[in-house]
Amino acid sequence: MVETIRVNLKVNGKQYVLDIPPDERLIDTLRYRLGFTSVKEGCGRGECGSCIVLVNGLPRHSCLTLTATLDGAEILTVEGLAPEGKLHAIQVAFLETRGVQCGFCTPAFMLLTKALLDKTLDPSDEEIKQWLASAICRCGSYHYYFKAVRKAAEYLKKGKILFDEKEVRKNLYKLPLLR
Ligand code: FES
Ligand code: FES
Repeated sequence: MVETIRVNLKVNGKQYVLDIPPDERLIDTLRYRLGFTSVKEGCGRGECGSCIVLVNGLPRHSCLTLTATLDGAEILTVEGLAPEGKLHAIQVAFLETRGVQCGFCTPAFMLLTKALLDKTLDPSDEEIKQWLASAICRCGSYHYYFKAVRKAAEYLKKGKILFDEKEVRKNLYKLPLLR
């Protein structure tokens, strides 16, 4: 019989009690056990950053993290940025840049943005570059993501945190184009 370890996790605001094998990676728990498929596996060895999620508010490579080490932790994936029917300011800002191409890296970049803007709403250009350097975008959307961080900070400073998803979808092509 495979030995399991009991782990209490809060993921996107919901509490889970899981019995998992000690060698299960966080990325597998999130994607395959809990269904949070925004978490992407690229390299599987800590290089690409596609698997980044926030653990207790800080970015963590979920491909290099064993879930069994996280008892009591709080985890955020992109699914937890906004409730059903809403979009977070960060998601809207990323949409406004129209910079997303294949989208594989985008969840990680959104979460890096969240962690940075939780720290400061006035990051320097250098700080933004440093935070975004934690993940790789093979499509080369860095320039747009940089602008998205600035735009998201603007929204958050004005207290605009959640947007109606239907309204955003309806007006997507009327939104200012951040280029
Ligand atoms: S999949 Fe984790 S760093 Fe590439
Ligand atoms: S948008 Fe394709 S990898 Fe970043």
